Amino acid sequence: MFDTVIKGGTIFGQGYQRIGDIGITGESIKEIKFDGSLEGVQVIDATGKLVFPGFIDPHVHIHLPFMGTNAIDNHESATKAALVGGTTTIIEMICPGPDDEPANAFAEWKGLAEEGACCDYTFHLAVVRFDDIAKAQLRNLVENEGVQSFKIFLAYKGALDMNDENLFQLMQLCKELGVTLTAHCENAEAVDSMQKKLLGEGKIGPEWHEPSRPRSVEADGVNHLCSFAELTGATIYIVHTSCGIAVDRAIQAKNRGVHVGVEAVAPHLVLDKTYAERPDFEGAKFVMSPPLRDKEEHDALWGGLASGKISTIGTDHAPFNFKGQKDMGTGAFTLIPNGIPSIQERVDLVHTYGVCQGKIDLQTMVDVCSTNVAKQFNMYPRKGALAIGSDADIVVYDPNFVGTFTHEDGLSKIDYSGFEGMERKGRSDAVLLRGKVVAQQGKFVGETGSGIYLPR
Ligand code: URP
Ligand code: ZN
Ligand code: ZN
Repeated sequence: MFDTVIKGGTIFGQGYQRIGDIGITGESIKEIKFDGSLEGVQVIDATGKLVFPGFIDPHVHIHLPFMGTNAIDNHESATKAALVGGTTTIIEMICPGPDDEPANAFAEWKGLAEEGACCDYTFHLAVVRFDDIAKAQLRNLVENEGVQSFKIFLAYKGALDMNDENLFQLMQLCKELGVTLTAHCENAEAVDSMQKKLLGEGKIGPEWHEPSRPRSVEADGVNHLCSFAELTGATIYIVHTSCGIAVDRAIQAKNRGVHVGVEAVAPHLVLDKTYAERPDFEGAKFVMSPPLRDKEEHDALWGGLASGKISTIGTDHAPFNFKGQKDMGTGAFTLIPNGIPSIQERVDLVHTYGVCQGKIDLQTMVDVCSTNVAKQFNMYPRKGALAIGSDADIVVYDPNFVGTFTHEDGLSKIDYSGFEGMERKGRSDAVLLRGKVVAQQGKFVGETGSGIYLPR
């Protein structure tokens, strides 16, 4: 007799999709059988439903001091939103300022997560400061605290960016430590110059955000990072690629032997730059970097996912309220805090606009939203798999649910939804985190603070 049995759903297991039962005792999966024989104290009827490994978001910002303000979520609100949307593990970006010591930043972010996180979590550590003190601390965090990935910004000049001398040395250190370097790729200098030019011409609205950082600026950043990776042998992961040309640059490098992973994020897959052109400053809700692009880029991104060029989908959840935060930029688009949150909507957006529209199949959805993330970031098969011994992080998914995305349903603290009114197909019916049901039909039913840190 198991603690819990999930019965009669289509299980997306390791290399198969088959109707069966999953037996859970304690925090892990103990048995998977196909003859209907498993019995549990608690039985979850999954007939007609899909049974997925818990989804993993590789790119989340929660505590984020950025552009003169702080992102509006805390760990409790963001992770509750994650769970009701089927995401059971997140990788949060630790983003310290240029004067902050990495060790203090790690302790600060981890302390905040320990207080409130409801799903499991681990971190990418942004490297902004790179002197001898920082280098020693980075080494210690990798060797003793389970940090396995760093982050750099080839963007945000004067705030988070890094010069080439430091970047090259950091990549040598990554190679030595076996750490993956995740990177926001643009050309910070070019963006800065373009922003100044546009503002000088009186072009101050959110619609000028995209022209200030066009696709070529992103492709240049990807190329630059890939060149350094080729020279140093570091493993890199390009976050939030927004367009075909950026993906192509990464794949050209991969074909030359560079170890490079490519991520897409939900907003770039379903929204386009006309949203940022909405009148009366509403476009500010849709300002993120890299920016939303022409609608034609959607096909490039979905095609990249279908072909395996892009291996993961994250969110880049970075919530800033429209009132009181985004409106800091009414006089200049460069002052609009960047971000379009989607931690709750990601899986259903991918299902609705990817799977239901025939752009990717269900197995690809599971791979790019869960399994590949776990593999890329050293959590597999504890996470990202329905397998005996894996954590019982499980999503019972109803593919027949029909509704609309609306801010009213959101558990994030943000005051708007970037997907308001859009058609929605599919919903996480029941979500289990390490064996416990934590979300049901859009409601959080778990215990606040029960997420744990995953050292990698
Ligand atoms: O617009 C974005 N992407 N905001 C969050 C910070 C970042 O660049 O990831
Ligand atoms: Zn970024
Ligand atoms: Zn980000």
